[in-house]
Amino acid sequence: MAAAGLCSFLATAFFLLASSSALVEELDETFKETRQEDVWLVDFYAPWCGHCKKLEPVWNEVGIEMRSSGSPVRVGKMDATVHSSIASEFGVRGFPTIKLLKSDMAYNYRGPRTKEDIIEFANRVAGPLIRPLPSQQMFDHVQKRHSVLFLYVGVESTLKEKFIEVASELIVYTYFFSASEEVLPEYVTLNEVPAVLVFKDSTYFVYDEYEDGDLSSWVNKERFEGYLHVDGFTLYELGDTGKLVAVAVIDEKNNSVEHTGLKSIVQEVARDYRDHFHRDFQFGHMDGNDYINSLLMDEVQVPTIVVLNTSNQQYFLPNKKVENTEDLIQFINSILDGTAEAQGGDGILQRIKRVAYDARSTVVVSKMCTWLYTTPSEIIYVYYHYLFSFTEVVKLMFFKSIL
Ligand SMILES: *[C@@H]1O[C@H](CO)[C@@H](O)[C@H](O)[C@H]1NC(C)=O
Ligand SMILES: *[C@@H]1O[C@H](CO)[C@@H](O)[C@H](O)[C@H]1NC(C)=O
Repeated sequence: MAAAGLCSFLATAFFLLASSSALVEELDETFKETRQEDVWLVDFYAPWCGHCKKLEPVWNEVGIEMRSSGSPVRVGKMDATVHSSIASEFGVRGFPTIKLLKSDMAYNYRGPRTKEDIIEFANRVAGPLIRPLPSQQMFDHVQKRHSVLFLYVGVESTLKEKFIEVASELIVYTYFFSASEEVLPEYVTLNEVPAVLVFKDSTYFVYDEYEDGDLSSWVNKERFEGYLHVDGFTLYELGDTGKLVAVAVIDEKNNSVEHTGLKSIVQEVARDYRDHFHRDFQFGHMDGNDYINSLLMDEVQVPTIVVLNTSNQQYFLPNKKVENTEDLIQFINSILDGTAEAQGGDGILQRIKRVAYDARSTVVVSKMCTWLYTTPSEIIYVYYHYLFSFTEVVKLMFFKSIL
């Protein structure tokens, strides 16, 4: 009895092992000719790279789950040191590099290396660029599933062509849908059709070419909820938006009113003053001050409010305690009207930075790998000595946090 049990256990284990390796296909030079026949999710790795080894069990699970869920996406891996010419054709520069390859397009994955995140990315990018919503029920269903969704309303138009173009670039981040006007909920009023809308924060915003600039940068700015839990990855992504990021830096485990209250104040401003601020500001909170301290090279005391300008290295701290929404609004207005004092990235730093730029960019490329193994204080050292921009430091910190 026991022997039979063990036997079947071994058989199952063997089957799982055998199938898990088969579900991730080892790719070689022939891949160049065959890849257009299918949609592929590929891990380009180097045998000596520690982060690639760390990814391997996750990658096998991705292979198993994609197969068992009936996904048409094939999962593969390629030793980029053996097949270096094809890897460089795909623009592989670091390891591991994860790409989804769909017809002649290659989409980079830059998110956290977890099974769930990678699978979500693969399914989103492998699917249609624009997903039609033929009925109100479909709209409701999709709205429940996605905290942020972009929708094109109308028939064929040049705006639709632009929407498709933007989707083909930004599908790596978010979902794009299309519908006719009848499908929209009753609370939506459109002055004109065709239109592009974003639904989020239990409301919607209409893209206005005149006020919002080009569609691509608008989508890039609007793809976040109005209020976020900001961590290294979010801050890294927010770097692309050029927005001002207003965060409550708190200790989430501390239940005192100083901490919970500050978070509520930011949430309230994000919600009630959305129309005033949502174009320029992103709101949220951060748990703990370690990350922000190493970014700002400053000692901010929790709880506090920090406003980061992601377009330059500047940041703002309130000069008195923020105790209610009025205080926060006042602080924000003082930033907008230029009376609040910006810190970091002053004129001198900017000038030196420009001079140091060329030296720096060559150093960055050659030293990048070593830096990924450094401590935050060494990154700060690099920041001082090579005069990185704020977003570059955010990126480095982020890569360190996921590796
Ligand atoms: C919670 O925060 C308050 C105010 O910052 C502080 O005085 C208190 O010591 C903190 N409590 C804990 C348990 O950390
Ligand atoms: C943020 O930085 C950009 C780019 O330097 C600048 O144009 C803008 O005025 C800054 N915003 C604030 C509020 O300081």
